[in-house]
Amino acid sequence: MRILGIETSCDETAAAVVEDGVKIVFSVVASSAEMHIKTGGIIPEKAAREQLKSIIPVIDEALKESPIKTIDAIGVTVGPGLIGSLLVGIEAAKTLAYAFQKPIIPVNHLVAHIYANFLSDTPPQFPCLCLVVSGGHSDIVLMKGHGDLEWIGGTRDDAAGEAFDKTARLLGLPYPGGPAIGLGAKTFMDKNPDFKLTLFPRPMITDDNFDFSFSGLKTAVLRYTENNKDTDINQLCAEVQQAIVDVLIAKTFKAINKYKPQSLLLAGGVAANLHLRESFAKKAKELDLGFYCPPLPLCTDNAATIASCTFFNQKTFSLKDIEANPELTINDAF
Ligand code: KG4
Ligand code: ZN
Repeated sequence: MRILGIETSCDETAAAVVEDGVKIVFSVVASSAEMHIKTGGIIPEKAAREQLKSIIPVIDEALKESPIKTIDAIGVTVGPGLIGSLLVGIEAAKTLAYAFQKPIIPVNHLVAHIYANFLSDTPPQFPCLCLVVSGGHSDIVLMKGHGDLEWIGGTRDDAAGEAFDKTARLLGLPYPGGPAIGLGAKTFMDKNPDFKLTLFPRPMITDDNFDFSFSGLKTAVLRYTENNKDTDINQLCAEVQQAIVDVLIAKTFKAINKYKPQSLLLAGGVAANLHLRESFAKKAKELDLGFYCPPLPLCTDNAATIASCTFFNQKTFSLKDIEANPELTINDAF
C-alpha cells in the first residue's frame, strides 16, 4: 500500500510517498528555516505564508519524482503545530483526497515522530519506551502496539528543543539552536575530553517521577554569562548540552527500569543530537536493550514519518472529520 504523507506543522513543508509504512519511495522537505534565522525564531504568520508558497511545488515534486505513480491513501498532520501552517497542509490534502477519491487519515505529528524508527527493514519490538524530544514537546511514552500509547511523563515547561533554542539565542548562536550548540559542544569536548561539565542545574533529576523541567536552564545561562563574560562559548555549549542530556537519560532509564520494555526509541528533532544519541546507545548497550534512533534526516520534521504513521494507524475518516488541532498532545488520538 502506497501512502502520500503531507507535513506542514511548523516551518517545514514536506511530502513523501511510503510503501507499506516501512519503505520510503520518495521524500522531499522544503524549509523556511533560513528566513527564521534572520528573526532568531519562527514568526507564525511568516511560516504560514511560506507554507503556501511551497505546498504545491512540494506535492508536485513528490508525485512526479516518485518512481511509483499511484497512491492508495493520504495522511496529513493535523496537530500539534501552528494553526496557519497546519491549515495549508490539511486543505491541500483534503482537496487531493476529494479530487482523486482517496481515503484521508489525520496524523498526530508527535506520534509520527516515533514512526521514524519504523521506516526500516528491522522495526522495533513492542513494547517500546519512546523519548520524543522536539522543538515544542518532550514526552516519554510507552508504546505497547500501533495505536496503543501510554504517556508516562514529560516536560513541565520548556521542551528540550526549546531549551537548546533559547539558550543558543542567549549565547548569540543562530536559530535553530540545537545544531549550533551541538557543534560548539563537540568542538569543546574534542579538545577537553575529560572536562567535568557541572555548571548548570539538572532540575527534577532525582524526583520520583518521569517529568522534567528545562525553563530554569535559560535563566541559569543568562545569570552565568552576565557574570562571566570571558568563558569559552564552546564550553557553555557543552555545559548546556550535558545538562539536558543528563536529565533526559536519568528520566528515560528510570522509566525503563519500571516498565521493562523490549526496545528504546528516540525521536524528534533533538534526537539528531550526536551526544544524546551516543549517550543513549551506550546506556542501552549496558542493559542489552534494543536501541533505535532514526537516521538524522528523519529526526527533524518530514513527511515520510507521517506516511508511515498513517499506514500503521489506518481508520476511516470523512473529509469533515479532518480538522487542524494545534493543541494536540501525544496522548490524543486526533
Ligand atoms: O522535531 P522538530 O524538527 O520540530 C518540532 O516538531 O518541533 O524539532 C526541532 C527542534 C529544534 O528545537 C532544534 O533546535 C532541535 O530540534 N534540534 C536539535 C538538533 N537538531 C535539531 N537539538 C539538538 N541537537 C541537534 N543536532
Ligand atoms: Zn516535529
